[in-house]
Amino acid sequence: MLEVTGLHVAYGGIQAVRSITFHVNQGETVALIGANGAGKSSTLKAIARVIDAVGGDVHFCGEKISRIAPHDIIRKGIALVPEGRGVFPRLSVLENLEMGAYIRNATVEAKKDLKMVFDYFPRLKEREDQLAGTLSGGEQQMLAIGRALMSRPKMLLLDEPSMGLAPIMVQKIFEVVRAVAADGMTILLIEQNARLALQCSQRGYVMESGEISLHGDSAQLLDDPKVRAAYLGE
Ligand SMILES: Nc1ncnc2c1ncn2[C@@H]1O[C@H](COP(=O)(O)OP(=O)(O)OP(=O)(O)O)[C@@H](O)[C@H]1O
Ligand SMILES: [Mg+2]
Repeated sequence: MLEVTGLHVAYGGIQAVRSITFHVNQGETVALIGANGAGKSSTLKAIARVIDAVGGDVHFCGEKISRIAPHDIIRKGIALVPEGRGVFPRLSVLENLEMGAYIRNATVEAKKDLKMVFDYFPRLKEREDQLAGTLSGGEQQMLAIGRALMSRPKMLLLDEPSMGLAPIMVQKIFEVVRAVAADGMTILLIEQNARLALQCSQRGYVMESGEISLHGDSAQLLDDPKVRAAYLGE
């Protein structure tokens, strides 16, 4: 479904992503793990066209998307949930979710999708009139994922959904990520929490200094001595 070939990202002289190649099949959850600064977010941002890649190609559902306008990415069916979440703090929960549906002018469908999001995240329903800026970090993460789902994506790009959250909240968020995946969503999941990411994905890629150093089935990676030593704290 997603095919990334020779993707290269640089910021001035800093080579953040060095010609990486990987793919995500339809219906899969794929984890991209790696240390701080490995180039994970840059990879995701380049796929979502938030930043320009220096080189390489990205194909989605057979179509080349690496040169299209950033605002067209969401119409193609890719929704990015960025690091730091990016909810609109002065809009209510409901308004944030409605913003997610703005690309479709279908009120009836949007209502259905709103119900789906509230089914995944009952806590958002309880707080639909609360200003997003006053939500807790975990609730904002829920809202960011919910807003992404409102665009009816074919694929979700999640950038560190566990960041800065207490273990119980991380568990809650990942329960929903698993449920969304079980309902058929294709997911590219970036995480520093390698164990968690590998536990809820089918395959994984390990990034190191802008390159992919290892890849394989998540279960295998969880057992790999190098992964265990470097990323699982063993
Ligand atoms: N806007 C920018 N300008 C200059 N350098 C940048 C910029 N964004 C990222 N970088 C650099 O690119 C490299 C990769 O950063 P990136 O954010 O992709 O890493 P990451 O794997 O997501 O790390 P983390 O786990 O800390 O989020 C880092 O060395 C970072 O300093
Ligand atoms: Mg990052």
